[in-house]
Order: sequence, then structure tokens, then C-alpha cells
Amino acid sequence: MQDLNKLWKIFNEKFTDTSLVKGAFSAPGRVNLIGEHTDYNEGFVLPMAIEKNIIMLGQLRNDRLVQVFDLVYKNKRKFSLDALTPLKKDTWANYLMGVMDEIQKAGYPLQGANLIFTSNIPQRVGLSSSAALEVVTALTMAKLNSLKIKPVEMAHLCRRAENNFVGVSCGIMDQYVSCLGQKYYALFIDCRSNDYELVPFKNHNYQVVICNSKVQRGLVDSEYNKRREECKIAAEFFKYKLNRGVRALRDVTLDEYKKYQSQLPEVIARRARHIILENYRVQSGVQALRMGNYFAFGQLMIESHQSLKDDYEVSCAELDLLVDLALKQEGVLGARMTGAGFGGCTVNLLRREYIDAFEKMIKQGYKKITGITPVIYVTPPAEGAKILELRG
Ligand code: GLA
Repeated sequence: MQDLNKLWKIFNEKFTDTSLVKGAFSAPGRVNLIGEHTDYNEGFVLPMAIEKNIIMLGQLRNDRLVQVFDLVYKNKRKFSLDALTPLKKDTWANYLMGVMDEIQKAGYPLQGANLIFTSNIPQRVGLSSSAALEVVTALTMAKLNSLKIKPVEMAHLCRRAENNFVGVSCGIMDQYVSCLGQKYYALFIDCRSNDYELVPFKNHNYQVVICNSKVQRGLVDSEYNKRREECKIAAEFFKYKLNRGVRALRDVTLDEYKKYQSQLPEVIARRARHIILENYRVQSGVQALRMGNYFAFGQLMIESHQSLKDDYEVSCAELDLLVDLALKQEGVLGARMTGAGFGGCTVNLLRREYIDAFEKMIKQGYKKITGITPVIYVTPPAEGAKILELRG
């Protein structure tokens, strides 16, 4: 439900007016076009915000209480800004509490608030509904409290909330693009310097199409942490070998990799190869988009998937099937898994006129083999977090 009048009606049924400032805010999910698992290796990523959002309505309170209703799962929670510790039950509220905790730790004063939120971002399928919840909470609390927090700082606050409070050691990509995305632009992020650049994605002949496999392996969290560890081992190795201040796999060139890779354990060597080549692919991808060469971009997506499947080993049978089916369709320039992996979504680049045929064939082909009907989303690059309304 995304109709603001209806949402205010619900808000007014749940809370008595405090006569203080109130507003409505939104933050989008994201899909990563290329650059997977590179963010925590201080490398490059190229995500875009999608046309799926979390909307939060809020009003400031005179005290330190926060009351929040999640309209999607019909959950509610009340907590004090003076007692922010992670919950074991109702863990969804940790995303909000964590953000408020980080805002306060950064030295910004907060007052309590009454909040409701709703979402049309599917959860746990790699489209960053968690980052969107963090970002919309940060924006809501910042604006209601008249705090001047810039989008980049907001992204960092939200990431710290996820790392420290929720306990997921994610990189910076998701929060960044949810804060900074722009309509018809992908966001090229250097995850070391945190510099970013908007890359036009405006050719209306081509369209990004997301396929939700509707599977999610429990493995995702443990394997994610394992990959981080493996990358760290590889980075340590090159730091020692190259003796020139290597901090992360981002610093290792392909030639250096080739020279020393045989001295690494086989699995670690493959993990490193994925990261090193993926960083090159992101940079080439940005060049390709700038030149309007969507065909070249599609090829890089295909290579990225192969590498995630064989070297990084974070794909799964269902994602591979979606990619294989996609690449057999006419008008498809590229297809790859997106996000952390082990289920979730693929991202595809298509010529616009083939979208209907693609949707039909993917649904049929995937259902025939897995028994599951995938969900397909067609979305141009969308706007990042924004104020929908601010009153009083
Ligand atoms: C998850 C994390 C991101 C990133 C991706 C993999 O989405 O939240 O920070 O590491 O996995 O590219």
C-alpha cells in the first residue's frame, strides 16, 4: 500500500496527534548491476536503486519514547531512546533501534517519535529491504528532529547500525545506493575512498529486469562471513609477497595475481581471482555504459556470473537456471545473479521489445524444472531516499 492519504488515515487511527512536526519519507531497495562481493574488499560496485520502496510516516514526540507499527507484518514495538540494546525477539525492530543508536552515538540529539511503515520490497531476496528500512528510519528521524545529516554520512550511520546492532558485517553498497540513487543513473562507488559517480543509464531501448528465484538458502550469512575471511587471507598473502602496502584485494593487479597464485591454496586463489577480475569488470562496465555500449556491458554481466558460480561459489542451481534460461532468449544482452547469492534474484539486461516474451519464457522454463513460479520486476534506475511530505 503506497497511497499517502490512506497511510495518514492509519497513522491517525493509531496515534493521538502530538501537534509536533510530522512527515512521510521513502527509501528504495536496490539491485547491483555488477561488482559482487567487491565492496568489503575495498573495491568497486555499480548498483542502482529500484522502483520498490519502504514508506515511513512519523511524528515527533515530546519524550524519549518510540512507538512503531510495521504495517506489512502487523508488528508493533515500543522502546525508549535511553535503552537501545539489540532484541532477541522482534529482531525487525533492531534495524530501527540500531539506526537511532548510531545517530545518537554520532552526537546528534534525538526526541522520540510515533512511526508507521509499509514496504513493497520483497524480503530476503537480495534487493536490500534491510538497507531501505535503515535509511528510511535515518531520514525520518533526521528530518523530524531537524538534524542536518548529509546522505553520505547517513549511509555510513546505517551501515554501522547493521554491523554493530543487527550483527551483519555487510559492506557499504546497499545503504549508499538507497541514500544516493538517482532516476536513470546507476551509482559507481569506490568502496575505499567512498567517492561515487552517477553513471547515466538512460537508453530507453534497454531495460533492467529482475527475476526473483523465490529461494533463499540459510547458508547465506555463514558463507558470506566465510568469503570475507577467505578474502582477508588472500589479501594478507599479497601484502606479504608484494611488500608495497597492500591493504585489500583491491590493490592486487591481475599480473601480480598470475605471478603468485600457484602459491595460494586452490580455493583461496579462486576467491581472489573473482575479486580482482570483478573489479576490472566494474570499471570496464562503467566505461561501456558511458559510451552507450550496452552490448559490452551485457558481456561483462555474463562473465561476472560465471565467476560468481565457479570461482566465488555463491550461486545455486536455481540462479544458474534463471541465467541459462535468460541467455537463451532473444534480446537478452546479459544476465547474472545479484546480491550476496545462495538464492534471491538475477539481474538481466534486455532490449525493451523482448520483455513480454522474456517474462513468459522464463516463467514457463523455471516452473517446469523447479515447480516454482518466479516473480519478475521491470524497473528503471530509481530515485534514492526522499521526503514525500513534511508538515509543521
Ligand atoms: C550483500 C551485502 C553487500 C554486498 C553484497 C555482495 O548484499 O549487504 O554489502 O557485500 O552482499 O556484493
